[in-house]
Amino acid sequence: MAIKVSASLLSADFSCLTSELKRIDSSGADWIHYDVMDGFFVPNISFGEPVLRSINDKLTRPCDVHLMITEPIRYVDHYAELGADYITVHYESTDDLDTLIDRIHELGCKAGIALKPATPVSVIERFISKIELILIMTVEPGFGGQGIILETLDKVAKAREMADSSEREIFVQVDGGINDKTADMVKTSGADVLVSGSYIFHADDMAKAVSILKS
Ligand code: DX5
Ligand code: ZN
Repeated sequence: MAIKVSASLLSADFSCLTSELKRIDSSGADWIHYDVMDGFFVPNISFGEPVLRSINDKLTRPCDVHLMITEPIRYVDHYAELGADYITVHYESTDDLDTLIDRIHELGCKAGIALKPATPVSVIERFISKIELILIMTVEPGFGGQGIILETLDKVAKAREMADSSEREIFVQVDGGINDKTADMVKTSGADVLVSGSYIFHADDMAKAVSILKS
């Protein structure tokens, strides 16, 4: 299985985003992961539309937007207009996931569903025929730099089974605490897109860190 790395911009140096984007570009990371947090759905505020607007013409990789916000239906159009390729929404953030996924597709984007550590994978079953990505949060969403919650690995394996039995191409993404020590276990469990923030951004050599995650 080809492994992709999605570089989480949350760990970038915001004082020089242009050079951080160049660093991502030359690192071999496959996607750019854009974490939107609103201070309600998660206890932290990150960045939103204005930052993406100012960098979207400099992105050389698919943009993977992870919405950790309440009422995501109010914002998906904006992220699609700003060039998102994937828009991933939390199962826990809406009562009407069907409408939300349909809207993401109408906007021409691929749709993902994210699950917090305590949410079972079984809730995705009825949406599996219409999503392109399952995001298993391997930490509580809200902050970079946390340690992986090992109990989430079983969920990664269940998500992989579900993705494979769908006979459609569905990525199984993991997010949180991914580094040189944890990459093997998430890959063995079935993940094929590894989000990484602090590990790759704080490495002396980002390209080497990315290649360690992929190998
Ligand atoms: C956490 C975010 C992650 C975060 C991962 O809520 O969704 O994308 O940036 O950071 P690391 O790789 O440092 O755990
Ligand atoms: Zn994320």
